[in-house]
Amino acid sequence: MKLGVNIDHIAVLREARRVNDPDILNALYVACQNGANQITIHLREDRRHIQDVDAYNIMKHSTVPVNLECSINRNILNIATDLKPHRATLVPEKREEVTTEGGLDVFAHEDEITYAIELLHDYIIPVSLFIDPNIEAVEQSKKLGAEMVELHTGTFANIYAMLNGSLLHSSHSLKELELPRNELSIRLEKAVSDITAAAKYAKSIGLEVAAGHGLNYHNVHEMMKIAEITELNIGQSIIAKSVFVGLADAIKEMRRLTTR
Ligand code: PXP
Repeated sequence: MKLGVNIDHIAVLREARRVNDPDILNALYVACQNGANQITIHLREDRRHIQDVDAYNIMKHSTVPVNLECSINRNILNIATDLKPHRATLVPEKREEVTTEGGLDVFAHEDEITYAIELLHDYIIPVSLFIDPNIEAVEQSKKLGAEMVELHTGTFANIYAMLNGSLLHSSHSLKELELPRNELSIRLEKAVSDITAAAKYAKSIGLEVAAGHGLNYHNVHEMMKIAEITELNIGQSIIAKSVFVGLADAIKEMRRLTTR
């Protein structure tokens, strides 16, 4: 399994104080040295974490491929074509969201997505679409010209955390998932089967398959069972663990859990 380490959260911490500490290039170096197969960054329109200069520096110094997550905003796409990452992953973006909340609506924004894919292809940048795990979205991604899909695992991760973690007893409990345990178990099974079916279908029509969002040291084993998924992009849980054990060990441990 290819492990994409998302280092946005290093920049979140830095931006909280508007200093150059922690240094994103230090994080890049540690990630490359300790098992990251890919570096994933999201250049958001609001620049809340990764800044343009970070993206350019990461492109220059990364010793592993860089996966640039970006919206279909024209200004951002122009930066993407200038950066020439190893791949661009198109994601939806909302100003008010805390993080990417759902997959790209590949039906509502057909023209813009087609434009973005064609533009990126003109610069020889392969494109992945971050979509919800359903067959229709996979099929549409293929039709629009993407070579890869990244399946949004947020629903799965939320249910998993409410069922098996301490989220229910925290101030961030998800009201819509405060349900009897047997109901949560049924929903978890469905979430895994939706991801599995979408992954299998994607592979069958020639798309590469990644997954990401909310994956952590507890739930990632479920994704490891799905043979068609060949890449995971993981950020929050790795950076959170690194506070306690250091970034190198946090990545090594995730690498261990994601080695087939
Ligand atoms: N993949 C995509 C497309 C994302 O937008 C994100 C969040 O930036 C991730 C993976 C990583 O999610 P997390 O930080 O929850 O591991």
